[in-house]
Amino acid sequence: MAKIFLTRRLLDEGIELLKEHELEIYEGDAPPSKEEIIEGVKGKDALICLLTDKIDREVMDASSRLKIIANYAVGYDNIDVEEATRRGILVTNTPGVLTETVADLTWALLMAIARRIVEGDKFMREGKFKGWAPKLLLGTDVYGKTLGIIGAGRIGRAVARRARGFNMKILYYSRKRKEEMEKECNAKFVDLHTLLKESDYVSLHLPLTDETYHLIGEKELKMMKPTAYLINTARGKCVDEKALVKALEEGWIRGAALDVFENEPQLTPELKKLDNVILTPHIGSASYETRSRMAVMVAENVIAALDGKMPPNCINPEAWKKSERNK
Ligand code: NAP
Ligand code: GLV
Ligand code: GLV
Repeated sequence: MAKIFLTRRLLDEGIELLKEHELEIYEGDAPPSKEEIIEGVKGKDALICLLTDKIDREVMDASSRLKIIANYAVGYDNIDVEEATRRGILVTNTPGVLTETVADLTWALLMAIARRIVEGDKFMREGKFKGWAPKLLLGTDVYGKTLGIIGAGRIGRAVARRARGFNMKILYYSRKRKEEMEKECNAKFVDLHTLLKESDYVSLHLPLTDETYHLIGEKELKMMKPTAYLINTARGKCVDEKALVKALEEGWIRGAALDVFENEPQLTPELKKLDNVILTPHIGSASYETRSRMAVMVAENVIAALDGKMPPNCINPEAWKKSERNK
């Protein structure tokens, strides 16, 4: 029986699969502290963690038996993968199963900011609606406009696919050209500057890396159309949040819709005062179906590693080679 530490209780479908093992589950609603994570990892064979848990060498030092760090997320910027690889610890994530769910949320945000849904709801609740009026809560059209996708991976592509139904022109920027996506969505590969200058909606779908940190800052926001919107469901740190506040206050762009924040769970306080921004608490993958699928995927990754097999979603296969050599 292997010992597993979970930094939070996952959905039952995942827990059920792990029941043959000894589970220690952190039961708080808020993320555990670093000390609590270290304490939990002591003597464990596997760690199941969330994107809110910073997993670094200190955490890895807590157990010499640790075989796998299984992240309950597709993004893994919270984990020092290089350090894990050096130690022969496998790192896994949850790709694919959340793609369509995050693309749906991206579209919900895009539509909501364009058509001022949140402002409209507040207006109704405050009893301000006096009747239909020609200039009441005017927004921006979506149909036929230009969508710019930054980071044309799984989610970026799923967002682009939905745009076909809105007859949108699709531009994308990524490291590599995607001919299949061009065929599927009639998307055009452009450089970042062209994308920012020509898009009516700019949507981020990149991982957070050294290269993508503050990819969108003052200079980039100033390149966007004053009528354009920024949608971020990737990672908060891909955008310079202070520059974004300035852009929204001074009208360099028309609005933004954000599911992720630079210093989550903290919010740059000025954002709360602005009407031209929609804020959601990092709920991109938060549907019953998807969070269940993610829980199963995490469990399957852990079970494989504990059985001495290559986990299906291993992001550092070099660690596998290393652990094989150590046998
Ligand atoms: P993915 O398939 O790996 O796609 C990411 C794409 O970003 C890759 O295709 C890559 O492009 C591109 N990219 C990476 N570095 C780049 C750079 N420096 N410049 C330009 N493009 C770059 O990942 P995914 O499954 O779509 O997920 C994307 C991200 O979404 C995750 O990493 C995570 O941070 C975020 N996410 C957020 C939520 C949420 O709840 N809001 C949920 C899930 C995921 P190439 O293929 O051209 O190399
Ligand atoms: C969520 O943000 C994820 O990376 O899965
Ligand atoms: C609006 O409700 C319309 O009928 O145009």
